[in-house]
Amino acid sequence: MNNNLPTSIIIFGASGDLTQRKLIPSLFNLCRKGRMPERFQIVGYGGTAYTDDQFRQHLLDGAKKFASFEFTTEEWDDFASRLTYLTRHYDQVDDYKELDQIVGQWEGRRGNRLFYMATPPAAYPSIIQLLGHTGHLLENGSPAEAGSSAWRRVVIEKPFGTDWSSAHSLNEQIHKTLNENQIYRIDHYLGKETVQNILAMRFANTIFEPLWNRNYIDHVEITVAEQVGVEHRAGYYDNVGVVRDMFQNHLLQLATLVAMEPPASFDATALRNEKVKVLSAIPPLKDEAVVRNTVRAQYKDYRSEDGVKPDSMTPTYAALRLQIDNWRWQGVPFYLRSGKRLAQKISQVTIQFKEPPHLLFPGADRKITPNMLVLFLQPDEGIHWRFEAKVPDTAADMRSVDMEFKYEDSFGKTAIPESYERLLLDALTGDASLFTRADEVETAWRLIDPILETWESKNQPLAFYDPGSWGPAEADELLSREGRSWSKWDANPK
Ligand code: BG6
Repeated sequence: MNNNLPTSIIIFGASGDLTQRKLIPSLFNLCRKGRMPERFQIVGYGGTAYTDDQFRQHLLDGAKKFASFEFTTEEWDDFASRLTYLTRHYDQVDDYKELDQIVGQWEGRRGNRLFYMATPPAAYPSIIQLLGHTGHLLENGSPAEAGSSAWRRVVIEKPFGTDWSSAHSLNEQIHKTLNENQIYRIDHYLGKETVQNILAMRFANTIFEPLWNRNYIDHVEITVAEQVGVEHRAGYYDNVGVVRDMFQNHLLQLATLVAMEPPASFDATALRNEKVKVLSAIPPLKDEAVVRNTVRAQYKDYRSEDGVKPDSMTPTYAALRLQIDNWRWQGVPFYLRSGKRLAQKISQVTIQFKEPPHLLFPGADRKITPNMLVLFLQPDEGIHWRFEAKVPDTAADMRSVDMEFKYEDSFGKTAIPESYERLLLDALTGDASLFTRADEVETAWRLIDPILETWESKNQPLAFYDPGSWGPAEADELLSREGRSWSKWDANPK
């Protein structure tokens, strides 16, 4: 921890799903592991009426259901003794003053405060404005007591805006009361161990980086497929669709980690500078280029889901072909796809290498398959290398074989914590490397806006796909017309 002051975590929207499913189990596990500040409290703030005990019970029910770890009653009781709840309004200045008094009394002279925005996004600006207005966001402490000034930070859940203009105005509004270094915009994909491992793999090894460019790589594929449909979130989802929900944040973030140059250091500024450089090097698709390089689709039963408009044009699947115009990646397409109700839940990055320049083996019974490196982000976390080997007892037949690394084999079954654990800990320790900066979010929206505009205004056809399939035929054509195909992973190639 960066100082020893008492720390309050104040969650706005504390009666909601996110708090029960993710935030509390993660904070609880950090507490069990002894990683929380020595003195901390968690204050739930929300409109739903709960007593402290009812709130604790609601969270205990959640922990039993959603925590990925076993725990004892003593561990829970110890943690739960730090939980309180305030039934208050989001728009009443007096409620914020009272919050300040209550928290201030607990802190004594000075204290750190982490505010977590887990409300519907429309409420963020006014909550942050009122926090600023009532003095919650002022960091204090005298310079003479170096390292002991109390910090004030705000974690903001996605979605951060619905297009460039709303994201930009949200940034402008929150910058009135917060410095950029107090803001932690969350993208839970960056909290995933396997996603962070993209950087470890690239920059903690010497063997990959020399190959990691247009000289050896034919194309890159990023797939985030889900089996679930919209479930109970139709009200939100039908207004945003897959591109705002998944591409603007998670898939573009994955692309930046795969494509970025080695940063000068691992600190937040250096790392995020490199990510912004990648996003800035992607030429936004416009008009005709959108029609040629994107596919939007909807799963067949979507319109009959509860809460979905019967004539909804909201895409639940999209595939994009992007280019990165820089020295490393010129001419290497990045294909991104994501959708709901697909065949399998899988998130993976495939690095498809080029074909060998010359076919040496005359007796080979088929064309040589180019090498492939697949990063399995979830489930079955691991990395596979696919390469050609000579089939024994043939003259020179080749077959693809795999070399695989599995997290579970190397680090054990429970090695991978919930992504919110890492992100909450980083926010508490003041490390913003895994959070998105204002310019990064806005640059990502600049890529997404023209695609959505063209889809909506030019009426680009919406394709349909069968639930349980791998998406529409149009997405296969996006690659096949260039002589490529989406990678079909088979752990035991024949
Ligand atoms: C969220 C989206 O950000 O990510 C959801 O809003 C999606 O629609 C989820 O289901 C996927 O996350 P994960 O970690 O299950 O891949």
